[in-house]
This record gives sequence, structure tokens and C-alpha cells, in this order.
Amino acid sequence: MAPILSVEGLSVGFLTDLGFRETVHEVSFSVERGKTLCIVGESGSGKSVVCQAILGILARNGRRTGGRVLFEGRDLCTFSEREMETIRGKGIGMVFQDPLGSLNPIHTVGRQLRETLILHTDLDERGRQRRAVELLRMVGIPEPERRLASYAHQFSGGMAQRVLIAMALACNPKLLIADEPTTALDVTIQAQILDLLNRLKTEIGMGILFITHDLGVVAEMADDVVVMRHGRQVEVGSIQDIFVRPQMAYTQELLASMPHLNRKAPIYRENA
Ligand SMILES: Nc1ncnc2c1ncn2[C@@H]1O[C@H](COP(=O)(O)OP(=O)(O)OP(=O)(O)O)[C@@H](O)[C@H]1O
Ligand SMILES: [Mg+2]
Repeated sequence: MAPILSVEGLSVGFLTDLGFRETVHEVSFSVERGKTLCIVGESGSGKSVVCQAILGILARNGRRTGGRVLFEGRDLCTFSEREMETIRGKGIGMVFQDPLGSLNPIHTVGRQLRETLILHTDLDERGRQRRAVELLRMVGIPEPERRLASYAHQFSGGMAQRVLIAMALACNPKLLIADEPTTALDVTIQAQILDLLNRLKTEIGMGILFITHDLGVVAEMADDVVVMRHGRQVEVGSIQDIFVRPQMAYTQELLASMPHLNRKAPIYRENA
């Protein structure tokens, strides 16, 4: 089956005080249905810029300088801003790093969920209420009916991230883009959110594009991996390719710098 998302030779640049500079150079990968592709790389390697370019939410001084972004076979770069708004609401869900900062502090969580449903579905009021409860239950929030009346500050970081995942899933997107969704959370909560995403991937069959700088997270999440450095993709392959037979010196260095990963190494032994 064709991949949900194909990024082909994507390049992006920004106009800065020093003039126009290309910061992402010819990145190519695809995300399959029911699979997770992780982009991993050090800070500043261009991971978030790639996400933003896919979603059409680059900063005003940025623009795509080359390549294509195919979502279900259609080139998103030819879409109008209005068409992209629909894609971002219904086709592609998004989750970012700072869950409490991403929720609106002055409206209840229920209102925010229902607003998403008003914009992107034709459910009536009762349907929206039912769907909002169902979504909170799906992401593991206890007492969902009651929690719909809560405000952002009444949620812990981990629970707020669950709410944002529920919002991203409200319209059954085919693809979820998650840019460091667990970086701001402590380790046990991080593990719960990763489990949740893995479960949803299997249950809903959506593709996930997951951004992280943490190879431990890659080991938990990825089917496929893109390693980025200085705006370039230095390696792309399956999780086995990357962990068992890293081709590039940089990837080998990255793996070697994470001793705790050696404990996981047997999982990736060939034919294991
Ligand atoms: N609006 C902008 N104007 C100019 N340069 C930018 C802009 N946004 C990003 N960049 C540059 O693009 C490069 C890649 O940034 P990006 O945010 O994608 O890194 P990242 O891999 O997501 O890092 P991190 O792990 O810290 O989130 C950086 O050098 C950054 O300075
Ligand atoms: Mg980033």
C-alpha cells in the first residue's frame, strides 16, 4: 500500500539578518499506515523545521526551497492556506512539546474539544458531547465526564498531554505528527504516553511521525528511523538497520554515546 506521507527532497530556508540561508537540505522519507517513523538528531539539526514545513506552519521568514510533501498521494505544497487548515484539522493531527502551554487556560477542556469537533465534523451537540467523553476515555483519562468541565491548570503535565492527544485524534487523522511530545514530562509519565501512542497506532492504524532527540525513545517507538544532523539526513532505515547495522559514522557515534541502550541491544539481534 502507498505510504500515507512521502517527503521527497524537502529543503527549507530562512531569511535572517545574514541573508537567506538554507537550513534543511533534501530530506526524504515516508511514513506507512500503522507505523511510526522517528526523526532523531541533536538540537538544531532541523527536526522541527521539517515538521513545520510538512504542516505548512513555518515561521513567516521561512519557505520551502525544494522538494515535495505527498499526503495520501497529493502534494501539500500546492494546497491553499484554507485547504491546509482542513488537512491540519482532519487529515493530520499534531502534538507538541509543551502540553500546558498548548491548552487554552480560560476555557474548559470540554469546550476546547467540542470546538475542534464543531470545526471539523458534522456531529450535533449530543454527538459532540458523546465523542468528547469517548476521546478522553480512549486516552486514559479517568472520570471523563467530570474532567470535561476542568481547566488546563487542573491537569498535570501528563494528563494535559493526554488531552492534547485526544484533541489531535478527534477527527480520526490518518497521520499524527508529534514533535518531542514527552520531553517536558518526567520519565514514568513519558513511558505512559509512549505506551498510549503505541496502542493507538495499532488500534487506529494511523501513521506516526515522531520527533525526538532521545535514542531510548526511538528504541521504544520506531519502526523506521531518520537520523538528522546539521539540516541533513545522514541515515534512513528500519529500526533494525539503524540499531544493528548503522551505516554512518555519526549514527555509530550516537549509539555509542548512549551506553544504557546496550542493554536493549539483544532485542535487535538479527533473526531474533
Ligand atoms: N524562524 C527561524 N528563523 C531562522 N532560523 C530558524 C528559524 N526556525 C528555525 N531556524 C533554524 O533552523 C535550524 C533547525 O532548527 P530546528 O528547530 O528544526 O531544530 P531541532 O532539530 O528541532 O532542534 P531541537 O531538538 O532543539 O528542537 C536551526 O539552526 C534554527 O536556528
Ligand atoms: Mg525541535
